[in-house]
Amino acid sequence: MTFYEILINRKSCRKFTTQPIEEEKIETLKKAALLSPTGKRKNHWDFIFVRDNDLLAQLSDCKPHGSKLIRNAQLAVVVLGSPEISDTWIEDCSIASIILQLQAEELGLGSCWVQVHKREHNENTSAEKHVKDLLQIPENKEILSVIALGYPHEKKEANKESELLFERIHFEKYNSTL
Ligand SMILES: Cc1cc2nc3c(=O)[nH]c(=O)nc-3n(C[C@H](O)[C@H](O)[C@H](O)COP(=O)(O)O)c2cc1C
Repeated sequence: MTFYEILINRKSCRKFTTQPIEEEKIETLKKAALLSPTGKRKNHWDFIFVRDNDLLAQLSDCKPHGSKLIRNAQLAVVVLGSPEISDTWIEDCSIASIILQLQAEELGLGSCWVQVHKREHNENTSAEKHVKDLLQIPENKEILSVIALGYPHEKKEANKESELLFERIHFEKYNSTL
């Protein structure tokens, strides 16, 4: 598969089969995460690979909306960074998150980004606090996302080139097109 084919085929997957992810694919996902670049090469991130069904179920309750899909994933990767070490922690963790998703696509896996940073668990608690307590994450770390992964329950239609927003591409100056 070419890189462009990965890009055009990737769609968020929110329904997964019960087929476990093979160990060698998990190894590849681990290496892909660790190959993602960081500002000033600080490599301050951590990745928590969660496969335990009870933990997946509790992770899926981190937000009132948009996280339930984690419940039926085979793997959830919690992506966290260290704001004390790097002021680009959000960018670094975002890059690692999308790299995990693109690597997953190449491995024939589906994935979905679940946003944790700046999201609420309920009116008293943040989604981040819920995940930190659940996985014993130190106070000085910040969670950006949870990437849910598994074999897709159904193959979604690929993205369409005809729907790409070419008007958002500018040449030389804003609002100048070729
Ligand atoms: C920063 C970011 C946060 C997202 N948060 C969530 C989320 O919390 N729950 C969810 O179901 N999808 C989430 N998504 C997935 C988007 O909804 C999805 O990427 C977008 O609708 C485009 O669809 P596609 O991924 O199929 O191309 C998130 C995506 C990004 C990039």
